[in-house]
Formats: sequence, structure tokens, C-alpha cells
Amino acid sequence: MLTICKHPLIDLKLSIMRDERTKSKEFRESLDEIASLMCYEVFKDVKTINSNENIVTPTGITLPKVKLESKIILAPILRAGIGMVDGIINMIPTARIGHIGMYRNEKTLEPVEYYFKLPIVDNPLVVVVDPMLATGGSAISAISAIKKRGYNNIRLMCLVGAPQGVKAVEEAFPDVHIFLASLDEKLNEKGYILPGLGDAGDRIFGTK
Ligand code: PRP
Ligand code: URA
Repeated sequence: MLTICKHPLIDLKLSIMRDERTKSKEFRESLDEIASLMCYEVFKDVKTINSNENIVTPTGITLPKVKLESKIILAPILRAGIGMVDGIINMIPTARIGHIGMYRNEKTLEPVEYYFKLPIVDNPLVVVVDPMLATGGSAISAISAIKKRGYNNIRLMCLVGAPQGVKAVEEAFPDVHIFLASLDEKLNEKGYILPGLGDAGDRIFGTK
């Protein structure tokens, strides 16, 4: 299933990110802010339960403190996925964070995994985080590794996706709900998303 997180504030910030003149600082800030705004959709159906702890309101009423029913793991795909973590953690401070190290071979566009570490938790909701869903190779490889670990409640949260990448993930994992801020037109011959926003990792970390 694919959900496009449509909101005028997301459109404004995405337009800043698409602008080639935008520098790393503003690019990172906009990415963080969009990640926070997207949480509204991505976690919309997550259930809450009453904890054993109570709170007392200023009007003197005692209420049970509410918490999320599922434990949440964020699994950013390095490097660019790191750029969305703070924005999500600001909304869900109790989320645990894993790391999946992966880069695309620039010639074959095949993903190469170099690091994998996830927190050990009972029945978590795992949200794979990466700004770019291009061919879908990196996301598919990350999701496969997470499933091998035995976690099966998985969502994919990206900023910009290409139709090819969405189709590839949907075919490989029909149970994984994909969330995007924008579904763009296509990939170019180098596997970059058009119109897209360029190389997300380079723009976040200023490596070009
Ligand atoms: C980018 C991006 C995704 C991947 C998407 O990472 O952050 O992980 O490409 O492409 P795909 O859908 O075709 O697999 P990149 O390989 O550039 O690594 P980086 O984040 O370290 O720059
Ligand atoms: N990775 C990026 O960073 N940008 C793209 O357009 C495609 C893959």
C-alpha cells in the first residue's frame, strides 16, 4: 500500500529541498521538519494504551498516563536516512534506533550492505527511513535483512519516490506500507529521481 502524505507545509519545504541553491543547513532543517510532519500519517493508526502510571491535571483530575501500544524501532538506511531521524524522534522520543549501512554501486545501482544493527525488542513496529526510493534496491535489501531478523511489522518512510521503486517494493513485500511526501515522475539513466532533489546524502552532509 502507498500513502502520499499530502500537505501544503510539506510541499513548501520540499520545494526548498529541490532547489539546487539550498545549502546543507537549510536542506537538513527542511528534511527534519518534513519527517516530523509525515509522522502524523505514518503513525496515525498506532494504538495507545493506559499505562500503570497516573497523571494529575491542574484541575485536580487523576488520569492514567497514555503510552503507545507497540514498541517502535526506526531503521534509517545510512547515510541519508540519518537526516530524517531527529524529526521523527522529536515526535516519538521513546522510539529505539537501529542502523542499516548500505550504498548503491554507482554503475550497477545494486545495493551493497556494510552494517546492520537493530535493537532487540518484542514485536516492534519497524519503520525503515530513507529520503530516496529510486530503483527500490536499497529498501528491498534493508527490509529483507529486517525480516530475516524476525521482525515482520514493517513500514517504509521516504521523502521522494519513483514509480519504479514503489512498484519494486510493493511486489517484493505487499505487506509493507510505503509512505512518501512525493511520488515523482521517473529515474534518469544514472538512477536519479526526476525531478527529485539530487544526491540526498551529499546534500545533507555536504560531501560534494
Ligand atoms: C541513496 C538513498 C537510498 C538509495 C536509493 O543512497 O539514500 O539509500 O540511494 O536508491 P535505490 O532505491 O536505487 O536503491 P546512496 O547509495 O547514495 O548512499 P548514501 O546515502 O550513503 O549517499
Ligand atoms: N539516491 C539519491 O540520493 N538521489 C536519487 O535521486 C536517487 C538515489
